[in-house]
Amino acid sequence: MTLLATRGLSKTFGALRAVDNVDFTVRPGEFLALIGSNGAGKTTLVNLISGLFRPDAGRIEFEGRDVTQQSVNERIRTGIARSFQLVNLFDQMSVFDNVALTVFARERKTRSLFALADRDAAVADEAAAILAQFGLATRARMVAGGLSQGERKLLDVAVAYALRPRLLFLDEPTSGVSTREKAPIMDVVTSVVRSQGITAVVIEHDMDVVFTYSDRIVAMHQGAILADGTPDEIRRNDQVTSTLIGTVAPA
Ligand SMILES: Nc1ncnc2c1ncn2[C@@H]1O[C@H](COP(=O)(O)OP(=O)(O)O)[C@@H](O)[C@H]1O
Ligand SMILES: [Mg+2]
Repeated sequence: MTLLATRGLSKTFGALRAVDNVDFTVRPGEFLALIGSNGAGKTTLVNLISGLFRPDAGRIEFEGRDVTQQSVNERIRTGIARSFQLVNLFDQMSVFDNVALTVFARERKTRSLFALADRDAAVADEAAAILAQFGLATRARMVAGGLSQGERKLLDVAVAYALRPRLLFLDEPTSGVSTREKAPIMDVVTSVVRSQGITAVVIEHDMDVVFTYSDRIVAMHQGAILADGTPDEIRRNDQVTSTLIGTVAPA
């Protein structure tokens, strides 16, 4: 069973083959880690799948349907959402409003920004529930810019989650936080994602995190898929160990 499949997907920047003829598949319900050293093409692959970039060649299928020509917004409606390696938040807005605005946008209520979330009970209830799921309820009235780095990363995931995707891409959800903060973030993220039956693909550098939380691991190198297997298989894969694991930047 396949939820998402790319076929011969390619993206070049000048002479650089950032994503090179990639067949990447995601199965329903799995928590998949996408690994690889800096510049391997992981973010570019996610940019292609989420519709930020158009591929030079190849196609993308979601539940067997070709979505290659869909816009970002159409893909969100199809069920594909993503968070960003560098968080994508409105720092001057409250934590609550960051989530509420996303729920609004999803419901296509943003035509009137004067229709405040506080006046829309359904939106307010949903935003509050999402913040509670991510352990951010007590932060709701703070401005997003006032959060700790770990909380900001969680809020960024919460915003992507507020789009109610079926397939959620998380681009380095623990980057820039201390080692001590990584497990609490991943515990919250995996518990929300698994309890809601959401399929997730996580780009992650910390191999402890990767081996602890993922069902399957796909390793990229120089734009291509180098290996694909269970955490045990990847741990035993000499090519991955020599090419990637030794070279991954320390957290
Ligand atoms: N918008 C862009 N313009 C030009 N080059 C890019 C762009 N995005 C990524 N690249 C290049 O493509 C390669 C893959 O980048 P990226 O997908 O961000 O890697 P990763 O996320 O695995 O670190 C890198 O060499 C990077 O410099
Ligand atoms: Mg990246």
